[in-house]
This record gives sequence, C-alpha cells and structure tokens, in this order.
Amino acid sequence: MRTYLVTGGAGFIGSNYIHYMFKKYDNEIRIINVDVLTYAGNLENLKDVEDRDNYTFVKANICDRDAINKIFEENDIDRVVHFAAESHVDRSIVNPEIFVETNVLGTATMLNAAKKAWELPDGSFKEGKKFLHVSTD
Ligand SMILES: NC(=O)c1ccc[n+]([C@@H]2O[C@H](COP(=O)([O-])OP(=O)(O)OC[C@H]3O[C@@H](n4cnc5c(N)ncnc54)[C@H](O)[C@@H]3O)[C@@H](O)[C@H]2O)c1
Repeated sequence: MRTYLVTGGAGFIGSNYIHYMFKKYDNEIRIINVDVLTYAGNLENLKDVEDRDNYTFVKANICDRDAINKIFEENDIDRVVHFAAESHVDRSIVNPEIFVETNVLGTATMLNAAKKAWELPDGSFKEGKKFLHVSTD
C-alpha cells in the first residue's frame, strides 16, 4: 500500500486533494496529514475522512525537524505532497518573517527529512519515491 505524507492537508488545496485521493484510491492508499493548524487550517474540512483506518492526522510544524524526521522513521513514506505554507500573500507585508520560516525553512526541513529517509549508503535513492511541492513562492 502506497503511503502519502501530505503537509498542509487542513488547508484549501490540501483538504480537496485528500478528498480527491480517497475518492480515487479508497483503501488502496494511506494518507498521513501533517498540519500545524494556523488560521488557514481547519479540520472541519476533513470531518468525513477522520475516522478512516488509512488516514492519520499529525499536528506538527513543518519547521520542527524532530517531529518530521520521526514521521519518516515510523512510516515508509512513498510520496510527499507538500502544500503547507503561508499562502495569504498580503499578510507577508505585515509579517514577512513567518513566510520565510514556513515557506523556505519549512520546505528545507521537509526536503532534508525525505532525503535522509530515502538516501541509500551508496548515495543513490530508494526506487519510486517522489516529492511534490505545490507553492506560489
Ligand atoms: N489557493 C490557491 O488558489 C493557490 C494557487 C496557487 C498556488 N497556491 C499555493 O499552494 C499551496 C497551498 O495553498 P492553499 O490555498 O491550500 O493554502 P492554505 O493557506 O489554505 O493552507 C495552508 C495550510 O498549511 C498549514 N500550515 C501553515 N504553516 C504550517 C506549518 N509551519 N507547518 C504545518 N502546516 C502549516 C495551514 O494550517 C493550512 O492548513 C501554497 O503554497 C499556496 O501558495 C495556492
């Protein structure tokens, strides 16, 4: 069974993506949704999938290296679909730092965790693993 790690799954695109994937693949896939639940995240978007055996929600910040590495260590992740972001661009004028933290450093944390989990001792990577980053930035 293929395991997807979705970040920002409680947001607009992420929650629609999770619904789409369960509609398409039903019990053939497993989805782990990592979201820190900022003002933009809402678990109400996922009420109808929360009881599925093949769905797990983890409340964590993508900048939290230990939390993200732990997810990779405890699960054989096949796909990362990375939506978590500060997405309301007008807010970046008031507080640009949080955009840099989440969108740049958080993305670097996700990439490093995937690399650590997927890299083999000879420097090559496990077959069939994929990282998709969806972002305006
Ligand atoms: N919505 C659009 O029309 C659109 C269009 C093009 C590109 N995008 C891009 O796609 C991505 C997703 O957009 P969206 O509209 O779903 O955004 P959104 O703001 O609706 O959702 C973002 C989600 O990320 C979570 N999040 C934020 N910071 C986090 C962190 N540090 N750790 C973990 N989770 C965190 C939030 O809680 C929220 O659930 C963004 O990069 C956005 O810029 C969106």
